[in-house]
Amino acid sequence: MNDLVIPKPDDWHLHLRDGRAMASVVGYTARSFGRALVMPNLRPPVVSVEMALAYRDRILKALGPAEQGFNPYMALYLTDNTSAQEVRRAAETPEVLAYKLYPAGATTNSDSGVTDLSRCHAALEAMQETGMVLCVHGEVTDHQVDVFDREARFIEDVLIPLRATFPGLRIVFEHVTTKEAADYVRQAEGSIAATITPQHLLFNRNSLFKGGLRPHYYCLPVLKREPHRQALLQVATSGSPRFFLGTDSAPHSKDAKEMDCGCAGCFSAPHAMALYAQVFDGLGCLDRLADFASRFGAQFYGLPVSEQTITLTRGQSTIETSLPYEDGDAQIVPLAAGEPLGWQLSL
Ligand code: DOR
Ligand code: ZN
Repeated sequence: MNDLVIPKPDDWHLHLRDGRAMASVVGYTARSFGRALVMPNLRPPVVSVEMALAYRDRILKALGPAEQGFNPYMALYLTDNTSAQEVRRAAETPEVLAYKLYPAGATTNSDSGVTDLSRCHAALEAMQETGMVLCVHGEVTDHQVDVFDREARFIEDVLIPLRATFPGLRIVFEHVTTKEAADYVRQAEGSIAATITPQHLLFNRNSLFKGGLRPHYYCLPVLKREPHRQALLQVATSGSPRFFLGTDSAPHSKDAKEMDCGCAGCFSAPHAMALYAQVFDGLGCLDRLADFASRFGAQFYGLPVSEQTITLTRGQSTIETSLPYEDGDAQIVPLAAGEPLGWQLSL
C-alpha cells in the first residue's frame, strides 16, 4: 500500500504560542489536522473563557487561505484561584474543551500552575459535575524525585488520590511516557484516556545523548528507557480507544533550545502525521492509525469524526534541518531534523 487515506486527524495536545511565533507555526498544524486542543501556557496564562476566546480569534486570523476550516479548541489554565463559576462558564462555551493542570514548576510557563490540588477542590467539583475534561501534565515537581521517575510517582501521589476524591472527573493523562502510565490508563476504571506524542513513540533516552548533547530531543516529560517506549507502542497500536494522538508540538526557537539552559519541547507539527505513520507502519499496524489519529480522541471529547480525509503517501525524503520562525528572523528545528522520513502528507 503506497497511499493511506484516513479521516482528517485531530491533535489533542498542541502548543502554538502567540503573536509572530504562533503565526509562523500554526499553518503546519492547520494543513494536517482538522482540529486541535490548544494549550494555555502563554505568558500570562490563559485562565478565563474571555482570554481563551480572544486567543482563539488571534489563531483564526493567522490562518492562510489554504488553512481555513481549521478549528482550534481551547484548554484553560487551572490555577490555585480557578473558581467554580469560571469552570461553569467554560463548560457552557463550545470552543473550550478542557482545563489543563500544570503542577507549579513542572514545565515551560508553569509558574502559575497548581501548588496544591486541595486548593482546587471547588473547581474540580464543578468539572466533575459539568463533565469538563481535566488534562493533566502528570509529573511530580519535587526536586528530590529523579526526573525519570516523576511520572510514575505522579500516578501514586496525585492521580490515584485525585480520582478517589472525584471518581466522575473526566481525565486525559497527557503525553504519557512510561509503562506505569500506559498500564494505569489501560486498566483504570472510569473516564480516563491518554495522549501519546511522536517523540515518545519514536525515541528513547539514548537520543538525548547520541554523539553529544541533543537539545532538540529534550522535552518534558523527558524521553525514557526503551522498555517504556515499547509499552507506549503497544498501547498506541492496541486498538484501545483510551489512547489517542496528541503531538505536544512545542515550538521554541533554535537559539532558545541551544543554550546553557535550553527550553523543553519538541517541535513536531511539520511532519507529525508522517512520523506517526512511520511508527504504525513499522509495526505493521497502519490499519490502526485512523482510530488513533482521527477517531478515538474525537469520541472522548464527544465530537464527530471528520468527514474530510487526508492522504499519506509512502516516499523517501529528509526532514529539514531548520525552518523559519517568527518573522523569519529566527529559526526553529523540527523533530528528527536531518533524519529520513518514509511518509509524507499529500496536499
Ligand atoms: O516539553 C514540553 N514543552 N513539555 C511541556 O509540558 C510544555 C512544553 C512547552 O510549552 O514548551
Ligand atoms: Zn504540552
